[in-house]
Amino acid sequence: FMPLRAGGGGGGTSAKDELGNPITKTGWLATHQAGDRSLVQGLKGDPTYLIVNEVGEIGEFGLNAICTHLGCVVPWDSGANKFICPCHGSQYDTNGKVVRGPAPLSLALAHVDIEDDAVLVKQWSETDFRTNENPWWA
Ligand code: FES
Repeated sequence: FMPLRAGGGGGGTSAKDELGNPITKTGWLATHQAGDRSLVQGLKGDPTYLIVNEVGEIGEFGLNAICTHLGCVVPWDSGANKFICPCHGSQYDTNGKVVRGPAPLSLALAHVDIEDDAVLVKQWSETDFRTNENPWWA
């Protein structure tokens, strides 16, 4: 029996850069400004966006970049302030909520926790705050 919990309390996977090196909060924030959405390797190595929020901290959730249509990696378009899939044009808002199809679902969420400067990614198994529904990915 594995109790569900809202992040924190051990476990998780280090977010890693493209070379596989663990990401630290200090290192990330030295090179990523407020509003930044950039990819790291997250759970199971999935491309996952870390979000730097408006006060310049790493946000408590990350977004799995895999399009829920047919699995392309969805780039962030800072000019449009959306994620726009190059494959068939699906769009997701700043929180990864789908706003234009053909993608049927929002981008999967993951918890992002900072522990001793390490950036950890953890499974998100609670309600999806964007839809108030159970997570489709858990
Ligand atoms: Fe993204 Fe089709 S794979 S819109």
